[in-house]
Parts: sequence; C-alpha cells; structure tokens
Amino acid sequence: MTKLCLIGYGKMGKMIAELAPSQDCEVVSIVDPSLAQHHALINAEVLAGADVCIDFSHPSVVLANIRQTVALGKNLVVGTTGWNAHLEEIKTLVQSTGTGFLHGANFSIGMNLFQRVIAYASTVFDKFEAYDSFGYEIHHRQKADSPSGTAIELANTILGQSTRKNSAVFEKLDRRPEPQELHFASVRGGYVPGTHVLAFDSEADTIELTHRVRSRVGFAMGALLSARWLQDKKGFFTFAEMISEIVC
Ligand SMILES: NC(=O)c1ccc[n+]([C@@H]2O[C@H](COP(=O)([O-])OP(=O)(O)OC[C@H]3O[C@@H](n4cnc5c(N)ncnc54)[C@H](OP(=O)(O)O)[C@@H]3O)[C@@H](O)[C@H]2O)c1
Repeated sequence: MTKLCLIGYGKMGKMIAELAPSQDCEVVSIVDPSLAQHHALINAEVLAGADVCIDFSHPSVVLANIRQTVALGKNLVVGTTGWNAHLEEIKTLVQSTGTGFLHGANFSIGMNLFQRVIAYASTVFDKFEAYDSFGYEIHHRQKADSPSGTAIELANTILGQSTRKNSAVFEKLDRRPEPQELHFASVRGGYVPGTHVLAFDSEADTIELTHRVRSRVGFAMGALLSARWLQDKKGFFTFAEMISEIVC
C-alpha cells in the first residue's frame, strides 16, 4: 500500500483520491490552501506519513511546491506543467536530496502508448513514397491554447521518424503544403475532452490512427501508477521513461 499526500485538490486531485483505494494507494494528507478542511501549507508534519506526494496544483505555485517537497526529502510525482525552465535546477535538487522525482505533461497511459504506435507507423509509412501524412486535434471550446502540447509532441514524433518531412505547420494554410511540411490542424468547439488523429494517406487508401480521451480517469490512473512505481526509487524520471521500463 502506497501512502500519498495530494498537493492540489481540484479536479485531478479529487479524481486521484477517488481511484486511490482501487490502485493499492491510500491518501493520508491533502494540501490545498483553497479548502479550509485541508492543510494550507507544505511542511514536514503534513508530509510525515506519506511515501510519495502527487502535485496537481497550478502552474503559478508548482515550482515552490516542488522546491519545498523535495527539500523535505519526499518522493514526488508532478503532473502540473509550467516549470520546464527550471528543469536543471530541480534535477540538481533531486540528486542532492537523494529523493525520487517523476514528471510528465501527459499522464495518460493510452496517449503514451499511442505515441509509440505513431512512431512505429511513421517509420513504416516513411518507406513508401505513395503515402503522405497529416494530423488534426479537437478540444472543447474552453481550451485557451492551440495547438495542444500533445499535438506538438505527436508532430515531433512523426518528424523524428520521417526522411521526407522536416517541419510541422500548425497555422491555417492559404497555399499548398510543401512536400516536406507536416500539416497539423486544431479544431475548437463543444465539450470534446481531447482527440488527436494522425493519418497516412495515398491515392489508394487512408489509414487513420486516433486517440480519444473519454475522461480524466486516464490521467489519474497514470499518476497513481507513477506513485507506486516511484515509492522506493531515487532519481529524476519522466512518465515516458517509466512506461518504457514497463513495456520493454
Ligand atoms: N500531466 C497531466 O497529465 C495533466 C492532466 C490534467 C491536468 N494537468 C495539470 O494539472 C494541474 C491541475 O489540474 P486540475 O484540473 O486538477 O486543476 P484545478 O481543478 O484548478 O485544481 C488545482 C487545485 O490546486 C489548488 N492550489 C492552488 N494553489 C495551491 C498550492 N500552493 N498548493 C496546493 N494546491 C494549490 C487550487 O486552488 P485554487 O482553485 O484556489 O487555485 C485547486 O484547488 C493543471 O496545471 C493542469 O493543466 C496535468
């Protein structure tokens, strides 16, 4: 049984707490300054009973949370993004404190495996000139940014395997795409939680590979898997590295 401290008890924190018992985890403490019934601050006393902390808070506070938690010698899983500029500083802190640390911009196990499928598909279709490739993503109308971070990662995966394409174009095109350009479009509307489609297309046929998010459950399951995996580890890891270790 892995004992958890949840840092941030919003939509993700609540989902993780709900699923924890089914994943051999127990939530022993919660830090969220917006909720009176939980701890407002990270300190040694609050973290004392936890094996691993999980942060799904806010980009504006995550760096401070990371610094405090790691300095207190606790293993930490971080799903909150927005601190990438400080990656080297945190790596050094993790090494000097002898803690375990795992982070990722997308904790969906399915999306991570989808990335692997896309990498393989790109390698094989690249060998046949008849096939062109393109992509598109759809997200709900509240999403502020486009393209999604995941769309950028998927485009880079294709470009990394392709000998014919070397740049991605996410903006609208008022011209024909150049052969070396991968066009990746973004659609915003409705309540779609997140759909990413990659297509390999020839005169003869179309092969479409789709990842469709159904709910936040996928992210929460990924975070709980990470916490269990990290419990007795030291070092700095990404979510993709953990999946690689499990798959290989
Ligand atoms: N890596 C992934 O796979 C993944 C998946 C989903 C979401 N995310 C990211 O994870 C973060 C959380 O997502 P969410 O949907 O759960 O957001 P949310 O519903 O807004 O929850 C965040 C919670 O953290 C609280 N908080 C604010 N400051 C804090 C602090 N100093 N310490 C602890 N908690 C604090 C917030 O309180 P207030 O409301 O008062 O600010 C809120 O209750 C977002 O940045 C999101 O983009 C990542």
